Amino acid sequence: MTEHVPAGSGPAGPVPGGGFPSVRPRRLRTTPAMRRMVAEHRLHPAELILPVFVRAGIDEPVPVSSMPGVVQHTRETLKKAAAEAVRAGVGGIMIFGVPEERDKDAVGSAGTDPDGILQLALRDVRGEVGDDLVVMSDLCLDEFTDHGHCGVLDAQGRVDNDVTLERYAEMAVVQAEAGSHVLGPSGMMDGQIGHVRRALDEAGHQDVSLFAYTAKYTSAFYGPFREAVASSLKGDRKTYQQDPANSRDAQRELSLDLAEGADMVMVKPGLPYLDILRDFAERADVPVGVYQISGEYAMVEAASQNGWIDRDQAIMETLTSFKRAGANLILTYWATEFAGKL
Ligand code: PBG
Repeated sequence: MTEHVPAGSGPAGPVPGGGFPSVRPRRLRTTPAMRRMVAEHRLHPAELILPVFVRAGIDEPVPVSSMPGVVQHTRETLKKAAAEAVRAGVGGIMIFGVPEERDKDAVGSAGTDPDGILQLALRDVRGEVGDDLVVMSDLCLDEFTDHGHCGVLDAQGRVDNDVTLERYAEMAVVQAEAGSHVLGPSGMMDGQIGHVRRALDEAGHQDVSLFAYTAKYTSAFYGPFREAVASSLKGDRKTYQQDPANSRDAQRELSLDLAEGADMVMVKPGLPYLDILRDFAERADVPVGVYQISGEYAMVEAASQNGWIDRDQAIMETLTSFKRAGANLILTYWATEFAGKL
């Protein structure tokens, strides 16, 4: 953007007293009506996506202690949460399945069992909301493996990329058959988008979309999620998730996911990676999403419980920062609540 600056004067300084007392940006901040009118970015409920957890073998919802206000749902309460999201005008729901501990194994079999918790929940939710809400599912093995990694391990205990791709392909078809509209491959295996796309097409699921977790960084902010999905992970995910020190890597992931046929792309986490989000918004020719993850949620809730920040204002500020950076879609645990406040 070019700014009109009178010749020989340099940029307009702080006013008044900066040489241009008639140039007053504060005029546009004078009243709520004025601020509302000139606001460049607004949130709409339809661009919010609610991530939810559904757990096998429980009769009552189980609170996630590190995410005050978030629960592991039973199949019944999940249906209610989905119906509530529809009423609030939320755009989509992203479902994570939490199997019973005894159903976890080395290859994450529960993730491809047509009667596994995620598949049952997808059927329940589609039965409840039909096409009124975009129903999405996490496509990853970490919730279902007894070692907690996002893929299958080789003899040395390393995550085997190509063997894992085969498991993702199976998962994709099973989730599509259970009624998922959109699959979210989140395991950061190379080639996962192209591989899953081919498997879906071969099985006749050309209409099922892929929302690629394109830039997914190794992050301390996933902490509360690991409680939410009762993760069995002992080590870390540094050999497959991105290093926070890098941004070219994210550009490369974006090129690959677009070439492989991603219908939507995502940056995750949100707040610490707004620069990456902006890059994607400028480059991608598909909708760009951002995932405001568990630790970002916990951080705001914890500070506001202590009376250190104003909760609602802080939440709105973070959501608005994603819009300003160029996000079209926002995954947030506050989706239903805030859809009602916009
Ligand atoms: C992997 C997955 C994770 C999250 C979403 N999908 C966890 C991880 O990579 O460790 C994190 C979401 C959050 O923290 O809110 N299935």
